[in-house]
Amino acid sequence: MNMLRLGVLVSGRGSNLQAIMNEIEAGTVKAEIAVVISNKQGVPALERAERHGLTTVFLDPKSVADTPNPRQAYDQKLLETLQHHQVQLVVLAGYMKIVTSVLIDSYESRIMNIHPALLPSFPGLDAQRQALNHGVKVSGCTVHFVTEGMDTGPIILQRAVPVEEGDTADTLSERILKEEHGLLPRAIQLFAEGRLTVEGRVVHIRDV
Ligand code: GRF
Repeated sequence: MNMLRLGVLVSGRGSNLQAIMNEIEAGTVKAEIAVVISNKQGVPALERAERHGLTTVFLDPKSVADTPNPRQAYDQKLLETLQHHQVQLVVLAGYMKIVTSVLIDSYESRIMNIHPALLPSFPGLDAQRQALNHGVKVSGCTVHFVTEGMDTGPIILQRAVPVEEGDTADTLSERILKEEHGLLPRAIQLFAEGRLTVEGRVVHIRDV
């Protein structure tokens, strides 16, 4: 059986990438990581991938900085790299760059992102701090398909996490992160099993 080929996009620490690698190794996610791509050089996520013997690519945003549409030009390079590695599902795992239609149109409903809040609440940066400052008592994490809006695509899975008295952005982030590490691999496995269908905003999960 051919394994689902993943392209994982990262920018930093790479703990979600690690969770995916662990679950693949454990056999709970039936997929293979074809390539790990970063827009930042020398980040821990790339080191983790290399230690694991995975193919890594650093795509330097500066290489397209002088083009008329740098964001689109960057995503064109990204797209070519993903296609070169025959990637079937793109996973944004702490990828801190907005993706454009260049990528989205070619990988419609085949790009997933993990966000550390219960969307549609608190999209964008610093979601855990946004949640704390708003005073919510429950937050969590969301895996969604990527569309052109910021963190607005169809929701695949969510997990709730309590906000506790005295929480800081760090303590809440840590509690949410633990759940992220279960949620993202789970969403990838559902995709690998062909159980996800998108109808408008709604993602249906077929029972087996
Ligand atoms: C995670 O909190 C994820 O939800 C957000 O960025 C963070 C990435 O962490 N999109 P890591 O690089 O996977 O450790």
